[in-house]
Formats: sequence, C-alpha cells, structure tokens
Amino acid sequence: MNAQAHILLVAPTHYTVSYAINPWMQPERWLQDTAGFGAQARRSFNALSEALRAAGCRLTVIDGEPGLPDMVFPANAGIVLDGRLLLARFRHAERQGEEAPFARAFAALRVAGVLSEVATLPDGVFQEGAGDCLWDATRGLFWVGWGQRSNQASVKAVADYFGQPVVPLALITERSYHLDVCFCPLAGGEILYYPPALSVDSLARLRERVPAEQLIEATEDDLAHFSVNAVSVGRQVVMSRTTDRLRSVLTERGYQVREVDLSPFMMSGGGAFCMTLRLDRHSAAARHADPVVAVA
Ligand code: ARG
Repeated sequence: MNAQAHILLVAPTHYTVSYAINPWMQPERWLQDTAGFGAQARRSFNALSEALRAAGCRLTVIDGEPGLPDMVFPANAGIVLDGRLLLARFRHAERQGEEAPFARAFAALRVAGVLSEVATLPDGVFQEGAGDCLWDATRGLFWVGWGQRSNQASVKAVADYFGQPVVPLALITERSYHLDVCFCPLAGGEILYYPPALSVDSLARLRERVPAEQLIEATEDDLAHFSVNAVSVGRQVVMSRTTDRLRSVLTERGYQVREVDLSPFMMSGGGAFCMTLRLDRHSAAARHADPVVAVA
C-alpha cells in the first residue's frame, strides 16, 4: 500500500462564475441564481471532501480570496513532485491574480514541512500547473499538455526543473483546454483519455508508450460529464456523476467509482481532479506504485 495521498483543496467561499475563459463556463446562468448556486457549490465541495476522505486521502483545505473565483481549482496553481513545487503562470488575466495568494499558501506549506522547495518558471513560459502536467506513477514520467493554456516552452521548463521524463501532448480543441479535462492516468496503469482532444502526433506518442489493453477511450458524453477529470487513488476513483458506460468499464477493471454532484463547478469547466492538488507524489514510488507485482 502506498503512503496516504495528501490533497490540497480550496474552500469555495468566494466561488462564482463571473467570466468565461473556456467554452464550458456559464456566467449568465450563474447570475440567474447566485445564492442558490453558491449554496449548491458549498454542498458539492463538502461531498467531494467526504468522498476523498472515504477514498483514504488526507486533506488540507485553504481559503480562496474574493475576486479570484477559480482558486477553487488548485490543480492549476503548481506542479508537485518529491516535495518540490513549480509555481504556475496563468495565461488569462482573470486568473493571474491567483499566483500571489497561491505562492503564499505554498510558502506556508514549506514552512510546515509539507514541501521542501518552491520554484518559479522561466520568463515567457505559461504553465497551468498539474492541470496540464500529469504524473504517471506507473511509467515514471510526466504527460505535459500544451497549446491552449500552457505554451510549448512549458514542456522543457517542466523537464528541466524536475529532471524526469516528459511526454508532450498537444491539445487541439478549446473544450479540452487543460490536459486533465481529457486525460487521466489511473493508479492501476491504465490511461483514460478522449482521443479527439489530442493531435495525431500526440496520439502516436501515447500509443507508443501505453499498450492497447491499458488505454481506455472516453466518449464525448464522458467528457461532458467531466468524468475524465477524475482523482485516482489506489482502486478508488472520485469523479463527478458519470455515465453508465464509464462506470461499468471502470468497475469491471476493479475500480470503485465514487461519484459526486459537481454541477456548480462544471459551470466553470471543472470537475473533481482540478479541484485537487496532490502534494505527496514521489518519483521513487514510480513503477512500484499500484499494479500488484508478485514477489517471488
Ligand atoms: N474556470 C477555470 C479556468 O478556465 C476552470 C479550471 C479547471 N481546471 C482544470 N485543470 N481543468 O481556468
């Protein structure tokens, strides 16, 4: 069994949908019932927290800030491996204000001993954190999404800072504006992904590295349920309410699917994964992670 997963969450106290920087965002709909959606968001957040705890995770919850509603998606704030954190740089002005409060929160986590180092990206690099940079514990590499929010230069920046193998994946659609919307390495080694979101070259890179029996294709319906944006911890998968199809695919593969109604966050283009930031990922655990290996 792995060490306990440690996850950072941001409480939705200041959450709203007040602008649109991705095609899923619905600020006009939010305006129709701000109090109702706000209350629903708090209930959804509590249900997500409970599901993560039930899946065995330790949670650290920090506060967001007024005027920065998308702080509830801490996956975009940085990339963490081996206690080292690389701070994100946001593409859109609407989210750039998050950089300072997140940097303060991570500095506090360093003082608390949760992180050992907090670093900054080189000039000219846009990189939106773990939302565009997914650690694959089975293969010991980062899948790095670029082309919508993070730029191509982020691929080298991630490789240089962490010194780990990286595989770039070009995101070619606006709906999959972050890699975690369309791509999810599961703890058992499978990759759940939505093929139309990736360029032909990127699909070839993926298929070179992952055997066909470990590739699980998501449908457009799964994508719209934000089911690919899932938190995978051991045999548990936490996600927003999913499709019958995907639930049975995952169950047949031995996963326990825990579903939460995250509709108020889907109105901002987010699901379970991007509401979390894993703080405990370790490169040494790679390849010895979840697949059960018989020791002779
Ligand atoms: N409204 C947010 C944005 O457009 C949603 C971010 C969701 N994060 C993610 N990693 N998918 O930036």
